[in-house]
Amino acid sequence: MSFTSTAAAPRTTTAEGTDPQWWRQAAVYQIYPRSFADADGNGIGDLRGITSRVGYLQDLGVDAVWLSPFYPSALADGGYDVDDYRDVDLKIGTLDDFDVMISGLHSAGIRLIVDIVPNHTSDRHEWFLEALQAPKGSPARDRYIFRDGLGETGEQPPSDWTSIFGGPAWTRITEPDGTPGQWFLHSFAKEQPDLNWRNREVHEDFLRTLRFWSDRGVDGFRVDVAHGLSKDLPANLPSQAELDATPKDGAHPIWDRDEVHEIYREWREVFNEYNPPKIGVAEAWVDSARRPKYASAEGLGQAFNFDLLEASFEAEAFRETVAFNLELAAKSGSSSTWVLSNHDVVRHATRYGLPPKADGEEKAGTNWLLNGGASPELQAETGLRRARAASLFELALPGSAYLYQGEELGLHEVAEIPDADRQDPTFFRSPGSSVGRDGCRVPLPWSSEGASFGFGPEHAHLPQPDWFSGHSVQAQDTAEDSTLNMYRRALQLRRELQGEDTLEWIELPGAEGSSTEVLAFRRPGGWICVTNFGEQAVPLPAGEVLVSSQPLRSEVLPGETTVWLREH
Ligand code: NOJ
Repeated sequence: MSFTSTAAAPRTTTAEGTDPQWWRQAAVYQIYPRSFADADGNGIGDLRGITSRVGYLQDLGVDAVWLSPFYPSALADGGYDVDDYRDVDLKIGTLDDFDVMISGLHSAGIRLIVDIVPNHTSDRHEWFLEALQAPKGSPARDRYIFRDGLGETGEQPPSDWTSIFGGPAWTRITEPDGTPGQWFLHSFAKEQPDLNWRNREVHEDFLRTLRFWSDRGVDGFRVDVAHGLSKDLPANLPSQAELDATPKDGAHPIWDRDEVHEIYREWREVFNEYNPPKIGVAEAWVDSARRPKYASAEGLGQAFNFDLLEASFEAEAFRETVAFNLELAAKSGSSSTWVLSNHDVVRHATRYGLPPKADGEEKAGTNWLLNGGASPELQAETGLRRARAASLFELALPGSAYLYQGEELGLHEVAEIPDADRQDPTFFRSPGSSVGRDGCRVPLPWSSEGASFGFGPEHAHLPQPDWFSGHSVQAQDTAEDSTLNMYRRALQLRRELQGEDTLEWIELPGAEGSSTEVLAFRRPGGWICVTNFGEQAVPLPAGEVLVSSQPLRSEVLPGETTVWLREH
């Protein structure tokens, strides 16, 4: 198959309208499918479960869903170990279920972005199984990164590199004749062998996958580890220390190499075969100055910006982050993305309730290894209060907001998961130092009672704590001041108020004394968002209150609260 588009006319496959810019200010809701809703009762969330909750998503008011991997997988890394990119995991549904789900979403006016995992396959992928059976130097091995070991009999790994999940980044195979053999590279778990993107077949196969899902109607792709695909490994591999000391300026052997953008130029050609074009959003943990390339119109079109997620809950930190990222987005011609939580980080309600990290320590938000929120120092109420303020701030920003399932319920990280129930490979690969990411992946509570709080008819695949009851959708549905209803109001207003994707910072009259803790901006159309990051109340600015993150009982804006106001 040629990778250059020969399509005469772009295909239209999106049910809802044809606005090619729909993504610029979309509210995108991330579904981690195995923990969203379980229709068949096997304890694992499934596609029919998602279909059954389309009404919930519509009421919530999101514009699109980003669906984390749903492909066949042994779940060595929660589905990011893909056995087959063009099928659905039998544990969670079938291709027919997928078609029903997407048509349900589209009928409700919700678009669908699917996760694509191009840095690595699973070790059960047919290519990897073939590589294990094939001889050294064969075309089958060339799709991956195989090397001979060091030492007299090749018994030592090719380098001392460590995987991102902990432990060695090389694993030795047994050759077909039963002897210990070559080693393969895995940047993540050993069940996730890295692909060799210098191999043309790898390119062709992913283009086929992009078309496969695009033809089925998906509206875009979230690209996993987008900065890791292109690698240039010299014959003499550098040590881990040397690798760590190498600047990531486009010529690092592994991360964020300049030529990775050639891959996305090919992908863009496929995206543009459709009308409206498919969109891409890069998960690229790169220096922010290098982000615009991923987000360019010739590339994926958008890139995650994790800066807000990493910022501490302070007015100046938020202001700087937003100003900087709006400029960056403008450079690429894209819109900015905003993220406070996802399936890889400690939920923001919990992060904001933990003591600030001392200088030099890893920031709480990005630290996957953070103790799952189980700190005795956690101030749960403060955390939730700040999380609501931060979310309302985020939803007022120009650009697209990526929300993570359960944040609309104000969920905290679940700390109380017994070791025996843990699933995340980071827990197994770094024994003793990390509990991993399971705490933000616990199945959602839909009702206040029942075997799995309405997640499914039976148990859930990760244990849910008792306190989920009070956070359930049922418990919050009709409670006016619930976190769920705050999100619903904000998302509805966001649609009604949406204009140009710009903002203007403003100084509020009367807020002089507290100005370092109050952040305010105006959006086109005459409405403003004001956040009081301090603990003390400040005078409530003039205007009609549209939504607030805490009840407003008098003419004050309480501490750690956001309000949206229509100017008189
Ligand atoms: C990033 C994904 O978000 C994470 O969940 C996964 O473990 C790694 N990439 C490896 O695929």
